[in-house]
Amino acid sequence: MIKEYLGFIGTGNMQQAIIRGVLEGKVVQPDQIVGSDRTPEKLNLLASQTKIRIAKTNTEVVGNAQIIFLGTKPQDLGGVLQEIKNVVGSHHVIVSIAAGFPLSIIKQALPKAKAHVRLMPNTPCMVQSGVIGFFMSPFNSHVERLVSELISPIGQLVTVQDEHGIDALTAAAASGAGFVFKLMESFEVWLIEHGFQKTTAREVAIETFLGAGILAQKEHDKSLASLREAVTSKKGTTEAGLLSMEKSQIDMGLKAALKAAFDRAQEISRDQSLSFAP
Ligand SMILES: NC(=O)c1ccc[n+]([C@@H]2O[C@H](COP(=O)([O-])OP(=O)(O)OC[C@H]3O[C@@H](n4cnc5c(N)ncnc54)[C@H](OP(=O)(O)O)[C@@H]3O)[C@@H](O)[C@H]2O)c1
Repeated sequence: MIKEYLGFIGTGNMQQAIIRGVLEGKVVQPDQIVGSDRTPEKLNLLASQTKIRIAKTNTEVVGNAQIIFLGTKPQDLGGVLQEIKNVVGSHHVIVSIAAGFPLSIIKQALPKAKAHVRLMPNTPCMVQSGVIGFFMSPFNSHVERLVSELISPIGQLVTVQDEHGIDALTAAAASGAGFVFKLMESFEVWLIEHGFQKTTAREVAIETFLGAGILAQKEHDKSLASLREAVTSKKGTTEAGLLSMEKSQIDMGLKAALKAAFDRAQEISRDQSLSFAP
């Protein structure tokens, strides 16, 4: 159990995943969490389901917690920083989950805080199977352990040394979930074309990706290449399919998709840096 109080500014999809995760993981008690949101109905519903405390303002959240999660959309975050800058003190750890919002801006706006952290969660965090990028500057192992313990119920924390690492995880893990859905769609469509009902086709696609993922996780001492080779017999069906994938340059296509997402993440960060004047 963590003794600190947690504050959540913006209680939308991603912050709710974190709140529900830390409660289900019994990392904190509901009364150790206080939240605020621009849409009170959303927060009221969440509070009635989880028994967390409601704050009427964002400054009230900061006044009642030590670890402050900033979870509005990036375009709303500038206003929030202005609002809370005079109430953030040296006992606060600021944790931003806003995509493409550089940590340097948050540090500049809230210089008194004890520590500033940037997290990059992906949507599987909503089902406690996420990947969460972690970056802080300057690095502090105590804060890293604290956030890691907090976040552990919703996914795997991956610490990176700089925001280049966060942008790479944005591409591979956050957008990556979208790329996996796209691949699953292809399986689903192909099976429907071969006479399967949509529900069965969807189930087969999901179970194939899920099963392969769980197998790779369980056989963690084996490389992904060796797991692939284990299903690839000479002149067999998998070999035929893999040769076709090679001819279609699937590897190049996926690399290009990852690069496009990475480049876009960097572009968004640059735009935020230029547009925000603390
Ligand atoms: N979803 C993802 O896959 C994902 C992945 C990684 C990172 N993120 C980041 O997570 C953050 C939240 O994303 P989301 O998908 O959870 O968005 P969301 O569901 O729209 O949640 C944002 C919440 O913040 C509220 N809000 C806006 N301005 C506010 C203010 N001034 N004070 C208090 N609350 C305010 C919004 O209220 P309204 O309903 O009134 O707008 C909304 O409830 C974003 O910065 C995003 O970049 C998301």
